[in-house]
Amino acid sequence: MDKITFPKDFTWGAACASYQVEGAVGEDSRGETIWDRYSHIRDGRIYNLEDGDTACDFYHRYPEDIGLMKELNIHSLRYSIAWSRIFPEGKGSVNQKGIDFYRKLTETLLENGIKPCATLYHWDLPQALQDLGGWCNRDMAGYYGEYAETMFRALGDLVPEWITINETYIHTRNGYYLGLHAPGLRDFSASLLAGHNLMRAHGEGVKRYRAMNSGGKIGISNNYGTAYPLTGSKEDQAAAARQEGWRRRWFTDPLFGKGYPQDMAEWYKSQGVTLPKIHDGDMELISEPMDFLGVNYYHPDYMYYDPKFWPNQSSSKLTGLPYTECNWEIEPRGLYDLLTFLDRDYNHPVIKITENGSAWRDYINREGKIADDNRIDYLYRHLLACRKAIDDGVKLNAYYAWSLTDNIEWSEATSLRFGLIYLDYATQKRIIKESGRWYGNLCRTNSFDMV
Ligand code: FCB
Repeated sequence: MDKITFPKDFTWGAACASYQVEGAVGEDSRGETIWDRYSHIRDGRIYNLEDGDTACDFYHRYPEDIGLMKELNIHSLRYSIAWSRIFPEGKGSVNQKGIDFYRKLTETLLENGIKPCATLYHWDLPQALQDLGGWCNRDMAGYYGEYAETMFRALGDLVPEWITINETYIHTRNGYYLGLHAPGLRDFSASLLAGHNLMRAHGEGVKRYRAMNSGGKIGISNNYGTAYPLTGSKEDQAAAARQEGWRRRWFTDPLFGKGYPQDMAEWYKSQGVTLPKIHDGDMELISEPMDFLGVNYYHPDYMYYDPKFWPNQSSSKLTGLPYTECNWEIEPRGLYDLLTFLDRDYNHPVIKITENGSAWRDYINREGKIADDNRIDYLYRHLLACRKAIDDGVKLNAYYAWSLTDNIEWSEATSLRFGLIYLDYATQKRIIKESGRWYGNLCRTNSFDMV
């Protein structure tokens, strides 16, 4: 059987995020986060009135999860740090117990031969900072900078790779514009302002990291979903271009020193959007050179002209492709196209896929197994797309599966299972899925069978 093999030093990882897995929300002086506040409103905004109070209890059970990672030969864990465990009030005095937890976790990874990749911000903002306006407050970039520097000092000797911010687009779209995620706002102009400050925070992080000369690497993780026009009509083509303009270019061009895309700025002005005020030095800060671009990809967007959807006037539709439990269509060419567009438009950056995966209605079968062939199929097809992109010159050097275990999928909570490892929430029992075994084999051999 032919094998698909990856470059020698390719990193095979798995990813998770603090709020989604840790639980222990009231322990060791952790401060309240916007997700605690949001999930405790209990008006139906979260699936089944659930919350992340216990989640996967990773706070206590991480040694077991790391043991399973070792069993699967997974090279690296991308995890995130809960800002409110370090600064319960978002700023001010440091909570040593928070630092101790992440040091212990990181040391345990290293003892098991697993490379740590730490994300500084994966959406769980301290509530105390939301009370000051959250990401709409310009001062946030400075508070973030202090927090980031504290973590570089605390873990810099152990962590070789850092991610500043997770998904500016999804965080600001769902949290500030569509009201689907914490903090639950519905204001497009506010979402662009929050995005501007998140990108400034990213720049602060990169700048402070560089100043410390610690020799590791730092980048950002962005969420992309390659936009295609639903039909060949001019209107749909323009709608797809606007989606690409918002989701990809608005949150990526500035990072690479290209500023905000002018066509989108004009469009937003024509729609009555208030654009973020750019202060002297902002764009330089945002474009502090980073070491890699993290790419989170799940599905493409097939766009049509939709005058009802303000201000972008473009919406997406399913086209008949197979889709996952999230109603996300499976289209690996979206990943290939995305990787090659990023390579072309941003001068061949080093790219890491920091999330990719699929949710399915997994269940334990009569043999006690989770026979999730659909997830293996998804992985297989997307990894072929990665291999092809590498063949065509994309500097892709890592792939992190989302996710290590099933976890709290934000507002969908336990209803969407993305893990390579199944979680029985009632007992906290973990079971490696068949996809986990398949992925483990890939991690061990750096290759998979072509079928
Ligand atoms: C991404 C998030 C991640 C997870 C996956 C499914 O947008 O970064 O936390 O929810 O989607």
